[in-house]
Amino acid sequence: MRILVTGGAGYVGSVTVERLLAAGHVVVVLDDLSTGHAAAVPSGATLVRSSYTDQAVVGGLLREHAIEAILHCGARSLVGESIRRPSIYYRANVVGGVALLEAARQAGVERFVFSSTAAVYGVPAVTPITETAPLDPINPYGETKRTFEAALRWYGSAYALRSIALRYFNVAGASERNGEVHDPETHLIPTILGAVATGRPMALFGDDYPTPDGTPIRDYIHVQDLAEAHLLALEATGSRLGVSGESALALNLGTGAGFSVREVIRAAEAVVGQAIPYETGPRRAGDPPVLVASADRARAILGWAPHQGSLAEMIGTAWTWRLAHPDGYPADA
Ligand code: UFG
Repeated sequence: MRILVTGGAGYVGSVTVERLLAAGHVVVVLDDLSTGHAAAVPSGATLVRSSYTDQAVVGGLLREHAIEAILHCGARSLVGESIRRPSIYYRANVVGGVALLEAARQAGVERFVFSSTAAVYGVPAVTPITETAPLDPINPYGETKRTFEAALRWYGSAYALRSIALRYFNVAGASERNGEVHDPETHLIPTILGAVATGRPMALFGDDYPTPDGTPIRDYIHVQDLAEAHLLALEATGSRLGVSGESALALNLGTGAGFSVREVIRAAEAVVGQAIPYETGPRRAGDPPVLVASADRARAILGWAPHQGSLAEMIGTAWTWRLAHPDGYPADA
């Protein structure tokens, strides 16, 4: 398949590009490098430094490279930033996303896989979360992802588009080649590893949640397991989807196991062989107490199963990558 990957220079995008190339697909990465890194794109893929929000650019690329499927990983993706600056989230994730969809429609591209998020559920009433749970996002990031999912459904019913929205839970770990580098870094595992590297204590955001040890519980999934799900999802869009032949599906991607922040810190201590310096502080606004996926639908529809489900594997690969890349990626030219 000839696949356009938006955001393919980012964390999830780049590891997924590695997997797509290994499976023999032709990959064109479209990334403006605003948060991605050119060095994260494997040499087997073509990197085009531009934005998916530019319909004319995308239309030209789809035709020039005879693209058959789009994997849309490009987005603004920081919850806190989305609350302070909703305008850039609506522009990038909704307006920009629709520009991409329009380019696809005009070029006749019928296969689409979208990076969505557990943030579409908000604070779920029931755990584990199934895809039929109400969508009730509590921040503009989740809201814009939900809006784009809805666009995919309506485009699917009106036009010849078959799409799968993948709702990621907490992505972690690294491949040998690519790892997680954000600026600023807000995610738990890289923040823990950063505290080990610098010796400066990290903040544990609240220990008064209604969970067994008082800290929030999340469902961590290895980025390579996530990449495998993208490959399977892209392959599945070759025909109508699921048991009832739908044109648009949403699938949770998690392992179904939940770990508290304290459990993650303890697992990291075992991996790095030293105590993690941390200080317990107040809650971070907008953090739900428990987010754990039911991944049964992804298993049933894609035949997917996570293989690197232990925290030790996820933290271990992130730590190995960090030791090999102490300065992250080289600056883009
Ligand atoms: N945490 C800390 N200290 C830190 C960073 C995180 O205690 O320095 C805690 C958080 O409070 C949270 C847990 O670690 O309880 C996980 O936090 P992350 O920031 O790593 O991940 P989130 O669960 O907040 O975010 C994930 C995805 C988002 C998605 C969100 C849905 O990364 O894209 O779930 O709520 F929007």
